[in-house]
Amino acid sequence: MTLPPFPNTRLRRLRRTPALRAMVRENTLTPADFIWPIFVMEGTDTAEPVASMPGVSRITVDRVGKAAKDAYALGIPAICVFPYTGMDARTEDCALAWSPDNIANRAIREIKSACPEIAVMTDIALDPYNINGHDGFVENGEIVNDRTIEALVKMALTQAECGADILGPSDMMDGRIGAIRTALETSNHSHVTILSYTAKYASAFYGPFRDAVGASSALTGDKNTYQMDPANSDEAMRLVERDLSEGADMVMVKPGMPYLDIVRRVKSEFGVPTFAYQVSGEYAMIQAAAQNGWLDHDKVMLESLMGFKRAGCDGILTYFAPAAAKALGA
Ligand code: PBG
Repeated sequence: MTLPPFPNTRLRRLRRTPALRAMVRENTLTPADFIWPIFVMEGTDTAEPVASMPGVSRITVDRVGKAAKDAYALGIPAICVFPYTGMDARTEDCALAWSPDNIANRAIREIKSACPEIAVMTDIALDPYNINGHDGFVENGEIVNDRTIEALVKMALTQAECGADILGPSDMMDGRIGAIRTALETSNHSHVTILSYTAKYASAFYGPFRDAVGASSALTGDKNTYQMDPANSDEAMRLVERDLSEGADMVMVKPGMPYLDIVRRVKSEFGVPTFAYQVSGEYAMIQAAAQNGWLDHDKVMLESLMGFKRAGCDGILTYFAPAAAKALGA
């Protein structure tokens, strides 16, 4: 439509008071928008700060139940578990990835028994268990697709057995969603949901995360043959269509802030549950600037998260989840 000219139109009229602004606000941000990623490690009753992610610590499995209960009390509906694994736990065959007793799977069970109400999301990829830090098996210097899928399916089934509500394949192999969905359907896990890391870009913003999970020193080379080229947008639409047709219930764009154009396209073109991951590097940037007194921590945190909602996100994976829930008054 064409706006009537000034002074009939004065857009500032509706910005004059908090009440008027509240009436015409187009988007809202609540703790129910958050999925909280946490890092778990071996040991007892310990938290170990992640240097490149101020305010984030790896915690031992015996502490995850309390973390989940606290998050749920703040109104956060979902928690996502990532395991820290040292070099000694990593192998070429990645067998620990589908062991029910690895720390990620123990954490799932612990959370489900301490706080059954919260939704538990997992990560499906081989990188925490792989000697070379890649998300798939490496043969002759190549990340092989189809053999990796067999391992991912085993991971998925173990996680489902342990009580996971949401599986998060983050590996970017082709065909993994279909293979996982078929395996779930044929093993009494038809209710388990898949939130696919659909448009996951080969990003330098993952640096602090790789420190947090112990992958930085393990990783040889880059992930450019399986994660997306940051220059591409149409390709993300093809990936969304593909993952939905293979049985994904929800899709994700990752990283978040530099890729909100992709979020908007996904939401507008598909209208499906759409999530984005405000990744470790985005978190680190805001924390670093706030620690220097260069940005107002709470304001920038909430503004960044509102940006995700405005772009079309149904929810956001964010390390800020508990702090943001508190800042929102939870
Ligand atoms: C690995 C995985 C990564 C993240 C989530 N799952 C890193 C990577 O692909 O190297 C990144 C999350 C973050 O940076 O916060 N499968």
